[in-house]
Amino acid sequence: MKRAFVTGTTGQDGSYLVELLIEKGYEVHGTIRRASVFNTARIDHLMDHPQVKLHHSDLTDSSNLNKLLATIKPDEIYNLGAQSHVAVSFEVPEYTAQVDATGTLRLLDAMHSFCPEARFYQASTSEMYGKVREVPQSETTPFYPRSPYAVAKLYAYWITKNFRESYDLYACNGILFNHESERRGRTFVTRKITTNLAQVHLGLRDTVRLGNIDAKRDWGYAKEYVEAMWLMLQQDEPDDFVIATGEMHSVRDFCERSASWLGYNLVWEGEGVTEIGRDETTGKVLIEIDERYFRPAEVEELLGDPSKAERELGWKAKVGLDELVDIMMESDMRVVKKEAGIVE
Ligand code: NAP
Ligand code: GDD
Repeated sequence: MKRAFVTGTTGQDGSYLVELLIEKGYEVHGTIRRASVFNTARIDHLMDHPQVKLHHSDLTDSSNLNKLLATIKPDEIYNLGAQSHVAVSFEVPEYTAQVDATGTLRLLDAMHSFCPEARFYQASTSEMYGKVREVPQSETTPFYPRSPYAVAKLYAYWITKNFRESYDLYACNGILFNHESERRGRTFVTRKITTNLAQVHLGLRDTVRLGNIDAKRDWGYAKEYVEAMWLMLQQDEPDDFVIATGEMHSVRDFCERSASWLGYNLVWEGEGVTEIGRDETTGKVLIEIDERYFRPAEVEELLGDPSKAERELGWKAKVGLDELVDIMMESDMRVVKKEAGIVE
């Protein structure tokens, strides 16, 4: 049985990847962090699975990583663990670098020392394109990071490439554009919109308060994106790939589609921080702008060119934005009702 080692199993992508690897017959060694409250909600259904073994670990602890890789000797390593919130990285830049940048170095170093035949996947990001130099962005587009998170991830991207070239390791960067799901963290914009709008609709919250609603992203469905991670490690040669839908939409557009799912027709009034989004029929204010959610430096637009992945991996996104909104709104109406004890 092949062995996989996955950091960040408690996160959105980690939970989908563990499910995929189980399906493919792997023994999956996942890392979790000790927390003062339970943080395993996304993988609770997998905890007792015979193919799953969980280990306490942290990307800031190299002795722990060395021991784990020396004893597990995995065939594949997926480095998904990260302080992954862009806005938070401005508040904890040094910690973000410790986890996202040098954490990747620690893991690569452990692999080089204890299981150099393993294959390595690095969770690189479209945030590295930042202030974009061309549209759409492909594997050859120059980078221009705009946050401590993106700068840290750029180090991780290059150290992965450097270990591949220096030590002949099988190490790949998946440059993934934003991908969302019903398991997305609630502080990322799509999930914030779907949960908060569900709460507004049910009378549990007044409005949804957002920052820059004119930012544009290439949003795909996370469950499909983990398949691309696995495919990258099944090729003859290691390489880097952009994974994206090839379509770009604004946060404003995401709000309109989510509101429409609930039967509202969102219209906009005012501008800047005084702009509001109102339901045209009832006049109810659904969206307000809140300066707290603006970032010191913004990534205005990201649009991926996934043609290399389609050509070489046979991977293509299937879920479009409308279907993504359906999946998330449908799930969040259920989740929010359950949390509020609303029985139908
Ligand atoms: P996520 O939901 O925030 O999950 C991050 C995972 O990393 C969690 O399991 C978290 O553990 C773990 N983690 C945090 N700090 C750690 C540390 N010091 N040591 C070990 N693990 C740590 O993120 P995601 O959306 O699944 O993203 C997965 C990866 O892909 C991340 O590296 C992210 O930067 C990258 N990425 C994501 C996207 C996207 O759109 N989702 C796009 C491109 C790249 P806790 O649960 O204990 O906090
Ligand atoms: N989080 C958040 N909250 N973002 C908001 C809000 C808000 O209230 N209002 C507007 N936005 C805007 C942000 O300013 C940003 O331009 C956009 O919505 C998307 O923000 P996020 O959903 O937080 O995602 P991100 O693009 O910054 O980062 C995500 O995608 C990256 C890939 O491009 C994260 O998953 C990163 O880990 C990932 O690398």
